[in-house]
Amino acid sequence: MKIGMLGLGTVGGGVAKILESPSGRTPLLFKVELVQVGVRDLTKPRHNSLPPQKLTTHLEKIVTDAEIDIVVEVMGGLEPARTLILKAIENGKHVVTANKSLIAAYGSEIFASAKDKGVCIAFEAAVGGGIPIIQCLKQSLGANKIKQITGIVNGTTNYILSQMAQKGVSFDDALQDAMQKGYAEANPTADVDGIDATEKLAILALVGFGIKVDCQKIFKTGIRSISQRDIAYAKAMNYTIKLLANARLNEDDSLQLNVQPHFVENSHPLAAINDVFNAIFLEGDPVGQLMLYGQGAGEGATASAVVSDILNIVSSSASWQNIHVKSSKLASASQEMESNFYLRVVTEKIATAAGAIAWSLGDFNVPPMSVQQQITKEGVLEIAIITESVFRSTLDNAIGSIRGLPYVKEVANVLPILEAQ
Ligand code: NAP
Ligand code: HSE
Repeated sequence: MKIGMLGLGTVGGGVAKILESPSGRTPLLFKVELVQVGVRDLTKPRHNSLPPQKLTTHLEKIVTDAEIDIVVEVMGGLEPARTLILKAIENGKHVVTANKSLIAAYGSEIFASAKDKGVCIAFEAAVGGGIPIIQCLKQSLGANKIKQITGIVNGTTNYILSQMAQKGVSFDDALQDAMQKGYAEANPTADVDGIDATEKLAILALVGFGIKVDCQKIFKTGIRSISQRDIAYAKAMNYTIKLLANARLNEDDSLQLNVQPHFVENSHPLAAINDVFNAIFLEGDPVGQLMLYGQGAGEGATASAVVSDILNIVSSSASWQNIHVKSSKLASASQEMESNFYLRVVTEKIATAAGAIAWSLGDFNVPPMSVQQQITKEGVLEIAIITESVFRSTLDNAIGSIRGLPYVKEVANVLPILEAQ
């Protein structure tokens, strides 16, 4: 099998290293040859042993070259990646991609085109880095009715939150570090604002539940609002803050989807997932609960997933163009979510403020479960509250009323809580 690859950055570089050194890995790798690699800039220094004549800036030539059997797309972005992939399929080539944005936005078009042409399209690296979650859902757990998928699926934000919590590093410094390590997207806003996690959640919904979801319809919040203050309250109250992507099948078969930072109870297995690691916690019928854990981003982990797709195609495993997509309704995400919540409210220094806010919550049937307060160094009163389990819409009504109290300066953060089961 001859491989043409589009891109030789963090992921492409890792793939090239594996394909150029098959010794000690599966013997199937000896059946694979990387023949051409498309890049933007031929003069850029590269850390691999590829002969320079394999590099080209004519990417179109790779996707139309009769000699090439599999096109590996690791360039990222929507265009020209979409056009090149469609052209590769048109030319009868199998396609492997790590591009979650592309699969989330144009998966249906690409799968349909691959089905027409009878070629494979594989995207293991699009979710969870080195964790084989797609193959696992597709095959190993294929017997199950999936009920819930809750995951830490963005390595960059998990790295930032871990660095902030464990080392007191600032948000900006932790982000710079994640970028330098090759974890972040070309535009790291996609990581920080939850866009990347939302695209991965849409892919998990497709693979796990057979449901096609428009990313725009998924409720999402990123991690920009998380301050050292929230992290300190989380620690004091036995929680860890994590950006979670959630998909849950309701009793009526509607699918509830959201991406948002949560207070995760410290005894929950997801609370212990730190740095660039990802973990995907699943519940299926009849398998019950299980969790997959591994490096969610970076050269080696992602290249491992890309090469596993190449190997599956080489060994002719079933492909994704035959995915059966069900029609299903989506539950309106955050508004219908029932959960305990964490609230941080900043008020003037009034002795009765915490009591009055607790009463206000009670008036709206949002019983507070625990309340902590302290005067900050800025001389204001900060009140951290964990509520009983309520609907988000009920909580929002109570928050509206709290915002109206004359001594309340701001409701600084509101995060759902993930309890250990
Ligand atoms: P990257 O380091 O920025 O590399 C992109 C590569 O594509 C570079 O080699 C670049 O060429 C080439 N390229 C981009 N646009 C091009 C164009 N228009 N024409 C020719 N070449 C072009 O990106 P990456 O981190 O490897 O990510 C690649 C893909 O994998 C993205 O879809 C990303 O979401 C996905 N992914 C990344 C990770 C990760 O940890 N980084 C993990 C999972 C999935 P030059 O080298 O000449 O600039
Ligand atoms: N930017 C992504 C992350 C890369 O940090 O998780 C892996 O998909």
